[in-house]
Amino acid sequence: MKNVIVITGASSGFGALAARALARAGHSVYASMRETTGRNAQQVRAVETYAAEHRVDLRAIELDVASQESADAAIAKIVAENGPDSAHFHYVHGATVTPVCLNWEAVDEEWRFLTGWPDARSDDPDKMALYIHSHFSGLGFAISAFEGSSNYRLIFACTPVEDGYSDMFYSIWWPRLPGDTSDVPPESVREQVESQFMGTVWDDLNIWRYQEYIENPALSKVDAKPYMAMRKWATQFYEVPASV
Ligand SMILES: [Fe+2]
Repeated sequence: MKNVIVITGASSGFGALAARALARAGHSVYASMRETTGRNAQQVRAVETYAAEHRVDLRAIELDVASQESADAAIAKIVAENGPDSAHFHYVHGATVTPVCLNWEAVDEEWRFLTGWPDARSDDPDKMALYIHSHFSGLGFAISAFEGSSNYRLIFACTPVEDGYSDMFYSIWWPRLPGDTSDVPPESVREQVESQFMGTVWDDLNIWRYQEYIENPALSKVDAKPYMAMRKWATQFYEVPASV
């Protein structure tokens, strides 16, 4: 299981060693330290060099544990970088490209999202390898049609939607391969779907388990507009105002 870990006092000594070891073990590690632009600027560069050389997710972050203000700023930054938005595909699922929300619209009780996955092999950032057409039917039910490098349907339902407990139903509908007349998908398809796609749900559950409602969440710049519009659309389904 991959975790997001913050190590305080990680400019040197045990802190630095622990941060590096945990990053090598596959976790996203924040090596926190004071004075990242001052006396520890060299340590920040060492962290960046280490991350690049070992191809691990290790990041230096400014954090003075004696200052509430500094701790709040660091945590807000970590949440923003690992939040349930476009950036989480990179940080949580290990995707090599970050999806882009291309279009969004509310049509009565339905919410429609069009997401694009940039083509990593192209120099053109607007060239997409995959489009995901997602339709939310109110809260708790979504169907997504994948078009491009993979072509399947994903149905995700979350019932009931309430404080503290939800049942989640997640299913992938794979196109029948040419010549296949069987009633069940071939074993190779089932294995591929399970290893490549179902694993992402478990990654997500590690986040969702600890999520709390925040009225004004920290969102990355590219996500602020579509996600805030979706949250506004979602308020129509609640009879009482949001509370924390
Ligand atoms: Fe996810």
